[in-house]
Amino acid sequence: LELYLDSANLADIKNLSAALPLAGVTTNPTIMAAGGMGLNRLLPALADILGADARFHVQVVSNTTNDIVAEAHKLHDLPFDIVVKIPAHAAGLSAIKQLKKDGVPLLATAIYNVQQGMLAALNGADYLAPYLNRIDNLGFDGVQVVRDLQMFVNHYQLPSKLLVASFKNVHQVLQVLSHGVRAVTLPADIARQFLSAPATDSAIEQFNQDWRAVFADRLSYE
Ligand code: E4P
Repeated sequence: LELYLDSANLADIKNLSAALPLAGVTTNPTIMAAGGMGLNRLLPALADILGADARFHVQVVSNTTNDIVAEAHKLHDLPFDIVVKIPAHAAGLSAIKQLKKDGVPLLATAIYNVQQGMLAALNGADYLAPYLNRIDNLGFDGVQVVRDLQMFVNHYQLPSKLLVASFKNVHQVLQVLSHGVRAVTLPADIARQFLSAPATDSAIEQFNQDWRAVFADRLSYE
């Protein structure tokens, strides 16, 4: 299972990576714009925080197939473990097909339905990113789309891995994981909710209070 942060905020990434087993970071142009840094500054800073093994999913901003292919090669040539995110529309699917032959690691992004995911998988995308909450917002069932796409991948034993994106709550994440999804990316606020454990905090506070009442500052082995 790969867990990513969907963020380009260095403070959030540093903070959350201390407790979370992160495989790396995913970004999109909106997230990068919010972070305010280009890749030349962002990627070395992220590698410092997350280590040399971290994987970065970086989205192209080109629109035509030829431009997407050229941009993807430039991203692939950077000295980091980069998966190039390419939109699952016609121009992007065509780019995925070409780039697969060149051995560029690829993620098909902005997947809103099963058929887009199917085509991206068959064209050779390594990762498929359905946008769960955005699908719900269109009036469809995001979890069902994820479930059907995962079943398609399983049924035909395709090597593509779903990396589900666009979450708005913890329940959505747990739902897709229960359907066998092997990668998710969390926005920082959802990641913080994963780490929030008020019942544990309160239980530990009571334990420590009881301990201190008898043993003051002594440690348990003293
Ligand atoms: C993945 O990287 C997607 O771009 C992202 O998860 C979309 O999330 P949003 O719907 O919260 O913008």
